[in-house]
Amino acid sequence: MSAPNNPYDPVAVSTLEPEAIDAMVAAALTAIQGAADLDSLKAVRLAHAGDRSPLSLANREIGALPPAAKAEAGKRVGSARHAVREALESRLVELEAERDARVLVEESVDVTLPTGRAVHGARHPLTTLMERMAEVFIAMGYEVAEGPEAEAEWFNFDALNVPPDHPARTMQDTFFVGSDRSGVVLRTQTSPIQLRAMLERELPIYVVAPGRVFRTDELDATHTPVFHQIEGLAVDEGITMAHLKGTLEHLAASMFGEGVRIRLRPSYFPFTEPSAELDLECFVCRGASVGNPEAPCRTCSSEGWIEWGGCGMVNPRVLRAAGIDTDRYSGFAFGMGVERTLMFRHGVTDMRDMVEGDARFSRAFGVEV
Ligand code: DAH
Repeated sequence: MSAPNNPYDPVAVSTLEPEAIDAMVAAALTAIQGAADLDSLKAVRLAHAGDRSPLSLANREIGALPPAAKAEAGKRVGSARHAVREALESRLVELEAERDARVLVEESVDVTLPTGRAVHGARHPLTTLMERMAEVFIAMGYEVAEGPEAEAEWFNFDALNVPPDHPARTMQDTFFVGSDRSGVVLRTQTSPIQLRAMLERELPIYVVAPGRVFRTDELDATHTPVFHQIEGLAVDEGITMAHLKGTLEHLAASMFGEGVRIRLRPSYFPFTEPSAELDLECFVCRGASVGNPEAPCRTCSSEGWIEWGGCGMVNPRVLRAAGIDTDRYSGFAFGMGVERTLMFRHGVTDMRDMVEGDARFSRAFGVEV
């Protein structure tokens, strides 16, 4: 005998019974209230209001009910789902408000806290001054030339007409690389770049060469074994001492202000003929201290002038060493200390401040880039 054909009794669909729906709602509301943050609420929404949630499944079963039961069950499930949605929405509003309040506190900035204390570096004033000096010449059409710091003795001395027995070549002034017979020295001046420029470039030549130089001096307030010079060289047809003076006047005005006077005082350098010492009018007293014991000047020792560098007309022997036709071409050259220029320009009185590398010294000149 076959089993009785039990007809499907929709009323018996257990998930649609009021108690079952109420239990689903109760479970959903408990979970919603228990959601402590937005992430958990998202998971709760999926479990209790998502497509596979008990209430959604119950909703799907309504279709299978006879028309008479459909309306009733539909209403019950509909209001249950509505209640769950409402609860989810209000919990969402609560949790978002909590999160916003927390973010406001956590991300607030205390503007009264002390600022960052990391020390910022600054470019060294010698570097920026060298660039500025070079720029004065670049604006006049000069190019910047370079040479090695470990230089052939020939470039540093011989080619510049400094004889082998010149006292400057001895161990007293010059750092030799290796032995004093190696033929290589740490350049004692930027003047060897004159020779290199003449050998490497086409005429006419207009170059400046800022660079580091070395001498066997002890470090003290007025000496340092490593310092900087800027060299200038012009070789062209018809170059005269007047061009040299005008060029140096322009540099002085650019560095120390319009109207500052310079003086060329006869002197001797082996690589220039005639040669001159370049003096700058004392920019502190402007000469007022000369012969005036009432108002002495410490900057120029009441002499009215301060020594800035050396210059002259390039010695024809030097031009010839570079293979230049001295019947057609002549040139002027000059060289001055960058440290001295910085001392004059900014009233720096101790060389040691320039070499110690203390960022506070550099910062006083501004953080220039
Ligand atoms: N090189 C020289 C020095 O170190 C300075 C100098 C003098 C450079 C005369 C020149 C010059 O170009 O013409 O003392």
